[in-house]
Amino acid sequence: MKLIVTGGYGFIGSNFILYWLKKHRKDEIINVDKLTYAADPDNLKDLSQNTKYTFINGDIADKEFVERTFKDADAIINFAAESHVDNSIKNSSLFISSNIVGVHNILETVRKTGIRFHQISTDEVYGSLPLNSKEKFNENSKYNPRNPYSATKAAADFLVRAYYNTYKLPITISNCSNNYGINQHPEKLIPKTILNAYLDESIPVYGNGKQIRDWIFVEDHCSAIESIIQKGVYGETYLIGENGEKRNIDVIRTILKTMKKPDSLIKFVEDRPGHDVRYSIDSRKIQKELKWKPKFSFEKGIKITIEHYLKNKERYLKKMS
Ligand SMILES: NC(=O)c1ccc[n+]([C@@H]2O[C@H](COP(=O)([O-])OP(=O)(O)OC[C@H]3O[C@@H](n4cnc5c(N)ncnc54)[C@H](O)[C@@H]3O)[C@@H](O)[C@H]2O)c1
Repeated sequence: MKLIVTGGYGFIGSNFILYWLKKHRKDEIINVDKLTYAADPDNLKDLSQNTKYTFINGDIADKEFVERTFKDADAIINFAAESHVDNSIKNSSLFISSNIVGVHNILETVRKTGIRFHQISTDEVYGSLPLNSKEKFNENSKYNPRNPYSATKAAADFLVRAYYNTYKLPITISNCSNNYGINQHPEKLIPKTILNAYLDESIPVYGNGKQIRDWIFVEDHCSAIESIIQKGVYGETYLIGENGEKRNIDVIRTILKTMKKPDSLIKFVEDRPGHDVRYSIDSRKIQKELKWKPKFSFEKGIKITIEHYLKNKERYLKKMS
């Protein structure tokens, strides 16, 4: 297969490219990335000699670029997005352009070429669940995005669904819970906690830290996307998660304990406006219909993650200033 992967220098996109080329050695990947602040070419430095891998610098919000570039491929997998909620609260213009206009451009190209398309989305489109409930999001949950980032991802999902319904294109969507693992920008909770703990600097925690996220190790997300590319049914949505519900404060305490650092580094700061309190995923559909299973426990994944950031700390510390 020849895959076009957008946003391949970011966190999940880079993990996906490494995962795919390791398992499908004969396949080709073209990484299309705009090289925003969130991109890091070092994420894929191990592929510098790999003849099956090519990089193209470009913006999916540029219609002509997409029309020119997105052809002669077996599949397009769209990871490209502005992904940080805090940035979307300060200014959402880029989120509209990359997360909505960009997806529309890809859909238009898919309409003309008939190329298989998979859109990577988030569980944040479903809004927030009550803290003290057992309720989980599933494929039929109502959309209720509550910040500019999740609103742009929801808008893109609606476009993808509408293009399937209207034009019957070879399209799928996946909505995944919070990822952690190697290659994540240190603006995000887990890498930031590890690096601040290493520096013995305070670790900012929004509000009371009791917000719950459903953590999944990034490699499990990649294997789920692989299952959808290989066996997913066109027009379907798949929710991806691995029953990893944890309070933010407990994630931070686990990291501190593993790194033998004191809890006194934790500093509670003013809560994020409109902060969602709980996300939780029911992933029985992908497990049953596509026979996908996660492989990593949180304990195993977080150990690999901490080791990675400490080993490569110079690279990440540069991005924190
Ligand atoms: N990180 C998570 O926990 C999570 C969970 C569920 C879904 N997602 C989704 O997965 C995708 C990837 O997330 P991530 O955390 O890897 O993001 P990231 O911010 O680490 O990487 C995004 C990448 O996309 C590129 N990009 C941004 N705008 C672009 C544009 N207009 N054209 C081309 N490239 C562009 C950036 O340069 C960067 O390399 C996003 O769509 C996000 O919504 C993320």
